[in-house]
Amino acid sequence: MSRKADFDTLAVRAGQERSQFNEHSEALYLTSSFVFENAAQAAARFSGAEEGYVYGRFTNPTVDMFQRRLAALEGAEACIATASGMSALLSTVMALLSAGDHIVSSQSVFGSTLNLFSTILSRFGIETTFVKATDIASYQSAIRQNTKLIFIETPSNPLTELVDIVALAEVARAAKVRLVVDNCFCTPALQQPLALGADIVIHSATKYLDGQGRVLGGAVCGNKADMGEVFKFLRTAGPSISPFNAWIILKGMETLKIRMQAQSASALELALRLEAHPKVARVFYPGLASHPQHALATRQQSSAGAIVAFEVSGGRTEAWRVIDSCCMLSVTANLGDTKTTITHPSSTTHGRISAEAKAAAGINERLLRVAVGLESVDDIYDDLLFGIA
Ligand SMILES: Cc1ncc(COP(=O)(O)O)c(C=O)c1O
Repeated sequence: MSRKADFDTLAVRAGQERSQFNEHSEALYLTSSFVFENAAQAAARFSGAEEGYVYGRFTNPTVDMFQRRLAALEGAEACIATASGMSALLSTVMALLSAGDHIVSSQSVFGSTLNLFSTILSRFGIETTFVKATDIASYQSAIRQNTKLIFIETPSNPLTELVDIVALAEVARAAKVRLVVDNCFCTPALQQPLALGADIVIHSATKYLDGQGRVLGGAVCGNKADMGEVFKFLRTAGPSISPFNAWIILKGMETLKIRMQAQSASALELALRLEAHPKVARVFYPGLASHPQHALATRQQSSAGAIVAFEVSGGRTEAWRVIDSCCMLSVTANLGDTKTTITHPSSTTHGRISAEAKAAAGINERLLRVAVGLESVDDIYDDLLFGIA
C-alpha cells in the first residue's frame, strides 16, 4: 500500500508474521525456549549480535506479533508486553526511574496504582505527589527538580474524570518530564495519547484489548529508547506475558474498534436513562452534556467510552441493594468485557486505599461503576432498575 493503512486494517493485519506453514490466522508459539544451530549462534543470540528468539522470558513470536500490532494501533515506535497492567506500570517505573526520583500523579487513578506509588515505590526512595486530575496547574506546581514522570489515567477509574492530554504534554515537555498515560478505558480505538503529545502509553490488556474477560496482560508503548530500557528490565526481572495470553489479546484486538463503538453507544444510552431516573443522584459519563469536561471528551476522544459511574440516593446500603438485585449483570471488579459488569468501587477496586485518598478521589459509598458490555441496553437498564428503588 502507498499510504499508511487505516486503524481498522492495522487492528486485524499489523504485526503478523507467518511461519513456514503459511497459516492464515496468527500462530500460537507455546515454547519456553528456542533451539540454536550451534554454540556460536547461541552466543550470538544471547549477546544480541544476532537477532532471533532466545528464551520465553523476553522473546516469543506470538508476543512479538501482539507488541507490533499494539504499537501500530497506538502509533508508537515500540511496545513491550507484560504479564498484567500493573506489571506494565511497575516495569516502566523500574526501567526509567531511580531512588531519589519523583513522580507527579493524578489522584484519580486505579486503586492498585495509588498503592504502588504511595506504599511500595516510597520504600525504594521514589516519592509521589498526588494532584487533582483535572487541574493542569496543579501538576505544574508539583513538579520538582527531581521529577521524572507525570502519570495520568484519562478517563479515570471510576469517576471518568478527564485530563487534557495536549495541555499536560506541554507542561511535561517544558519541564523535560515524561508524560505517561494509562489508556485502559479508551484504548487506541477511541484515544491515541502519543499523537496528543504523551511519551508513554500503559495498558491493562486484561480489559478492552482482550475484550472478553479471558486473560491478564499488559503493555507499555513509546519510543525505541524508552522501550529499550523497559525491555532490559523485563528481560532481567521477568514480569513477562504468557504467549497464550498474548495470542488471546492479539486476536481480541481484531474486534476492538467495533466493540468499543458498540459498547460506547450503549453506555451513552444507559447514562441518559440513569440521569433521568429520580432515584439516581448523579451520573458520571463524559458523553453527557452534564459532564464537566464534555467538551474536552468530544475533542480528545472519538467517543465517550463504556464506563458509566453513578451515585444512588442514600449510601452503601442502597448501592449494595442495586448490585444484589441484579439478575444479569456480573458482580465483578473487572471491566472491558462483552458482558456488563457492576462494582462498588469503595469496597472493591478502591477498598485498600486510605479513607483520605478515597475522599480526595471523590469515591463515596453510594457510588457504583457499570462497565457496559454488548447485551441490549434495554436489558442492562432493566436489570439495574430492580435495585434502584
Ligand atoms: C485503569 C486501570 N489501569 C490498570 C489496571 C491494572 O491492570 P491489571 O489488572 O491487568 O494488572 C486496571 C485494572 O483494573 C485499571 O482499571
